[in-house]
Amino acid sequence: MFPKINPTETNAWKTLVAHQTEMASVQMKDLFEQDPKRFDKMSLLLEDLLFDYSKNIITEKTLKNLLQLTHDCKLNEAIAAMFSGEKINQTEDRAVMHTALRSFSEQPITVDGADILPEIRATRQKMKAFCQKIHNGEWKGYSGKNITTIVNIGIGGSDLGPVMVTEALKPYWIEGIKAHFISNVDGTQIVETLKNLNPEETLFTIASKTFTTQETMTNAHTAREWFLKSAKDEKLVAKHFVALSTNVEGVKAFGIAPENMFEFWDWVGGRYSLWSSIGLSIALTIGYDNFEKLLKGAESSDHHFRTADFKENIPVLMALIGIWYTNFFGSETEAILPYDQYMHRFPAYFQQGNMESNGKHTDRNGNDVSYSTGPVVWGEPGTNGQHAFYQLIHQGTHIIPCDFIAPAISHNPIGEHHTILVSNFFAQTEALMNGKNADQVSAELKAGTMDETQQNQLVPFKVFSGNKPTNSFLIKEINPFSLGALIALYEHKIFVQGVIWNIFSFDQWGVELGKQLAKKVLPELKTDSKVTSHDASTNGLINTLKLWQKK
Ligand code: F6P
Repeated sequence: MFPKINPTETNAWKTLVAHQTEMASVQMKDLFEQDPKRFDKMSLLLEDLLFDYSKNIITEKTLKNLLQLTHDCKLNEAIAAMFSGEKINQTEDRAVMHTALRSFSEQPITVDGADILPEIRATRQKMKAFCQKIHNGEWKGYSGKNITTIVNIGIGGSDLGPVMVTEALKPYWIEGIKAHFISNVDGTQIVETLKNLNPEETLFTIASKTFTTQETMTNAHTAREWFLKSAKDEKLVAKHFVALSTNVEGVKAFGIAPENMFEFWDWVGGRYSLWSSIGLSIALTIGYDNFEKLLKGAESSDHHFRTADFKENIPVLMALIGIWYTNFFGSETEAILPYDQYMHRFPAYFQQGNMESNGKHTDRNGNDVSYSTGPVVWGEPGTNGQHAFYQLIHQGTHIIPCDFIAPAISHNPIGEHHTILVSNFFAQTEALMNGKNADQVSAELKAGTMDETQQNQLVPFKVFSGNKPTNSFLIKEINPFSLGALIALYEHKIFVQGVIWNIFSFDQWGVELGKQLAKKVLPELKTDSKVTSHDASTNGLINTLKLWQKK
């Protein structure tokens, strides 16, 4: 196991604290003026992905100090431990091997002394064969019709990955196939989704690592009842329901036959599971070959992460830049802003990826941390965000490091849309960096018709302080390979940050308490009696609900 080092006790951290005071008033635009080669030095090309990190409040000295932090925190050892199948998810006693799911190498990958690649290959093969049968019409619904509709039922990692990827890759959808996703236990989602679907042509993929998740099981049972209303024969469930899970017994108990189960393993974390059989709805929607390209894109980023020197290692740099702002500038949130409508769920996907992984206050030694860990992650596609929350990024009081992501080539090159879209992408990162000072504002106002007193009153409101940090990801085209590569870069960023913050990134104990309490509340909602077992607020809310539901 790699060492459990408190990052604040390293020399690098202390150096960075002192260095931040030197950097606090440095203006990025001055750094660009001083060094015409800054972009060349602070951007990297990985296949068809350009990562530009030059618009950050960093110098070569900052990077040197941050890289020293990876050394002091033994990042090398942590990477080796993860890839070699050590049980680095210590609180769940599990290895972390989602990278094995996208390995096409012949080299064995072992967990507990056994090579896991044969079972990974066998599952891929099973997924491939199943996709082929659905797509060529060999697999029929109960009335002899082809399957045209995939409904994935899952939540968290068993939903967000499939939704995000299928949406991002909509141009690759197989003709004649439509995909829908049901996650929320709110009956509205399943009712609205199933309303216009034909059970004879619908295949449900029940996606749950544990096969015990309340939301997923409730939705799965409702879907089954909906199906049986038409099919009227339990035996026909086999043609319309498949399970994606690690829990063979749970799947059997639900009534799905083992041959309709696509297995994965406890060394795959839920939020890292789209590469496993949880990705079946993706493969069914975009075709198995495209699913494999997604895996291969991720594999190429894994290779980059494992082999590139940290100074040229995109996920390592992403992680270090994030740490620089979170721990040394006190920023609390990060925005992910895709300038690609198809990628509209990408921020939500990495909201879970990041916040469920690194939203921890206990370090790997079991002590409370004295420093910030995972930021609040959020975002929306550009340009919508520009007309909503960018005001605060430009002129608010918070430092919000932003990731801008855009494809060079649009799948929908209609009129001037894409040129306008990317002009906004470039303009925003430039505006965030350069801002606009009082002299520039005054000069602009003077050119107008306003009198001088009014002009002077308006100046402070129109000033942009600038110096707001951004990373830019320019991707030649969003396709299965490039998307897979991008997702894996973000995954490894999270891993690197978790290592440096000395936290366990692959458990999620923080989601348990709410689940436990919901189980306690549920039976109380089913009785007529007044509830008194909670605090006054919770009692009051429950009793009012009961009263209103009676009427
Ligand atoms: O509630 C958190 C969580 O455990 C996530 O980590 C996971 O992705 C999600 O629930 C769904 O879990 P499962 O795949 O076991 O249904």
